[in-house]
Amino acid sequence: MSVIAAAEPVVQPALAERLDGYVSRAQTAARAFRELGQEAVDRIVWAMVVAGLRGAVELAELAMEETGFGVFEDKVVKNYIATEFLYDYLKDKRSVGVIDEDPERGIEYVAEPIGVVLALTPITNPTSTVLFKAIVAAKTRNAIVFRPSARAARCAQRAVEILQKAGDEAGLPRDALQVIPDPTLDVSQYLFHHRGVDFIWTTGGPKAVAAANEAGKPCVSVGPGNAPVYIHRSADVRMAVVDMLISKTFDSSVICPAEQTCVIDDAIWDETVEELERMGARLLSGDDVERLAELAFAPDGSVEMRALGQSCLNLGSLAGFEATADDKVLLAALPSDPAELAAHPLVREKLMPVLGLVRSPSVEHALEVCELVTEQGGLGHTSAVYATDDDVVRRFAERIRTGRILVNAPTAVGALGGVYNSMTPTFSLGCGTWGGSVTTDNVNYRNLLNVKTVSRRQAPAQWFRVPSNTYFNPGAIDSLRQLKAAQALLVTDPQAEGRGVADEVRAHLDGTGVHVFSEVGPEPGEAVIRRGVKVVDELRPELLIAVGGGSVIDAAKAMRLFHESPELSLDELTLPFLDARKRVANYPEIEHSVRLVAMPTTAGTGSEVSPAAVLTVGGRKATLVDYSLVPDMAVVEPRLTLSMPPTLTADSGVDALTHALEAAVSIFASPYTDAFCVQAVYQILPNLPRAFEHPDDLEARTAMSNAATIAGLAFSNAFVGVNHALAHAVGARFGIAHGRANAIFLPHVLRYNAALPSKFMPAPGYTAYVAPEKYAQIGWIIGLGGRTEAEQRERLFARVEQLLDDVRMPRSLEAAGVSRAEFESSLPELARAAFEDASIRTNPRIPLVRELAQLLEEGFHGR
Ligand SMILES: NC(=O)c1ccc[n+]([C@@H]2O[C@H](COP(=O)([O-])OP(=O)(O)OC[C@H]3O[C@@H](n4cnc5c(N)ncnc54)[C@H](O)[C@@H]3O)[C@@H](O)[C@H]2O)c1
Ligand SMILES: [Fe+2]
Repeated sequence: MSVIAAAEPVVQPALAERLDGYVSRAQTAARAFRELGQEAVDRIVWAMVVAGLRGAVELAELAMEETGFGVFEDKVVKNYIATEFLYDYLKDKRSVGVIDEDPERGIEYVAEPIGVVLALTPITNPTSTVLFKAIVAAKTRNAIVFRPSARAARCAQRAVEILQKAGDEAGLPRDALQVIPDPTLDVSQYLFHHRGVDFIWTTGGPKAVAAANEAGKPCVSVGPGNAPVYIHRSADVRMAVVDMLISKTFDSSVICPAEQTCVIDDAIWDETVEELERMGARLLSGDDVERLAELAFAPDGSVEMRALGQSCLNLGSLAGFEATADDKVLLAALPSDPAELAAHPLVREKLMPVLGLVRSPSVEHALEVCELVTEQGGLGHTSAVYATDDDVVRRFAERIRTGRILVNAPTAVGALGGVYNSMTPTFSLGCGTWGGSVTTDNVNYRNLLNVKTVSRRQAPAQWFRVPSNTYFNPGAIDSLRQLKAAQALLVTDPQAEGRGVADEVRAHLDGTGVHVFSEVGPEPGEAVIRRGVKVVDELRPELLIAVGGGSVIDAAKAMRLFHESPELSLDELTLPFLDARKRVANYPEIEHSVRLVAMPTTAGTGSEVSPAAVLTVGGRKATLVDYSLVPDMAVVEPRLTLSMPPTLTADSGVDALTHALEAAVSIFASPYTDAFCVQAVYQILPNLPRAFEHPDDLEARTAMSNAATIAGLAFSNAFVGVNHALAHAVGARFGIAHGRANAIFLPHVLRYNAALPSKFMPAPGYTAYVAPEKYAQIGWIIGLGGRTEAEQRERLFARVEQLLDDVRMPRSLEAAGVSRAEFESSLPELARAAFEDASIRTNPRIPLVRELAQLLEEGFHGR
């Protein structure tokens, strides 16, 4: 199974076989691991933690011996952090099966292991990193194969031995922990590209990070740092000084988050440097700084191994200046000028107890210097700011690009988490994309899991909203008497005013000053709305009374909206949307300052109860929809409809029928709206022809007025569908009245929605394609008969067609006066407009553009 990608370094066959052996044993271990439950895993973790704690001192000794640098006592502390602190963090965490859940959103998170993890560990934290990664791997049920730094392989191996022994006794699968000590780069490369390795977890220098990332496998790679520290004049200087000395001396500063360059405000420079010296730091002379700079880095810019992790005393003797065993940290004053500083060798990461100092005249300069330091190899890693001025902390946090920003705390010990703060304990400090990492996290068990999201189906709750008051039947107009207002504005059209509507309203509003705005014509556009708003703005009435057809009522809704929220624009409010509940357009959520009363003079639109207002904008019909548009009161006075000529009776009545038939099959239909749909159809079928033939038949008028409002209540909650989308498109293009445009398409749309959809509308509440059944149900409930579902449905469709003929609706666009040439030239544009119409969002099937074109064709030709 020595499968490696072509053109990658190839190792000798015998070595390859040996390496394959490690990986395949790890795979077997990983399979066994996956079978274990949380309790078994936690037993293993406990045993490993205990063994690691017991071995902490021995391992620190070994690390000192093998690497030859650092501070023994601190290495012990690191081993404790990697076991005790880690355990404290992990002990109640779930890492097997369901690890998290969100019942409200119906979501569970299920954890799975990754499989085989290849872990690179650094020379700087050689045993603590192994302890940490091994325990995290066990917690997540992953097999782990270590590639320790070549010069820290023995102590790493010993750490693994200790953990393996304890693990074995607690049930850790065999070979779940392994070390491959071969020092060559080829071996690493071979493993990086090995098919059996699922994940690479690198802690190391920039080269190791780059090589791991280049392998093209999922990985978390964390690299070097170069931490700047800013001491603002508002800082607690004594605390800052002790913190930095604790941190900079910690394991001789070989730990990557350690402080590297400290930027000190001018105002507190002397005080801070004096305090540093008093606490045991040595300020170097200019010449000594030069000498140290020469020692610290090899000619190629990498850290000089002789200097790595050495004490101040050793550094002094190596560089040729005086230092004592009591010196804790060497202070190197660096240039304040950013350009000079950038060129200085000591601006880089110094893995030894050497701290750069920069004097800063301003916060801005200090931030610039800290930024500059991070750009010298520390981007993404760690930084710190000492200040009590929150504004400075905020500016620092916004500006400096490091994964960890410590406030008033040391970086080396602080970044590992758990000592000075509540960060996640880690020995793997994500550096973000800036440092070649996928994360800025303090990497821990979460990063070593494949977390599966189990998301249960959820259908959002539905609603049934109606206006607070609806008055109906002859005499309903008397209900106006209960309205108390000093000023009312009557919105209407010129014809209605001519019919004496204004006087009638006035007669019912004793003591109220009634002004009239009667400029609203059919299909109102922006201009008339703007004029209306101006009148409302000037008059400031408490009451708007809209008396007229849908056009008037819609105009009044828009007038109130723009009067109350002048900052809104039609453009924004008519933005397209996929789901009205998530739409981008922002309708105001305010208490209305003006009450709106709607009195329809037609029986059709349902606008008196609906949340919609249809306006003509730029030659197209645009629909505003929001429950804030619903009138506060609907007065459905059938006597106001007696004056309708037969064509208007027919047009508006068919509109009401279309509302009911579209709402019935909508994806938002509910038992509530269904009841209204059925009743509306039941009333309209016999009464519309009666009202059409006998305009004075008050009984038929009353039934029609009520049916239109009832259908309005249904579509206010379930909305309409593709029929309205088509009607809006041709209505605007050819100037065909809304109701007749609906009539032209209705028979075709009924058959279209009753057929098997080519594309279903995704809707969690629509659990099966029930549109065909719903039509049949309506036919059956209203008594049209039929033995089978198909028959019931056919009878409804036939009855609808008969009604359209009875009220002499044009049955095609051609019959409505549209020429073939006109139709053909505008067909693509019409299909497009219908597709963009918000009405299709609730249609049970998604109309494809070509299907819309087909429906338009059918509408043009008719039967
Ligand atoms: N807001 C909604 O929920 C909703 C729903 C469907 C349709 N609409 C819209 O409503 C408009 C259509 O409304 P409509 O069908 O009520 O027609 P309409 O308001 O456009 O009026 C049409 C014509 O009929 C006249 N008229 C109205 N009532 C009369 C009466 N009693 N006697 C004599 N003449 C009368 C008007 O003066 C006008 O000239 C369209 O713009 C349509 O898009 C809105
Ligand atoms: Fe309509």
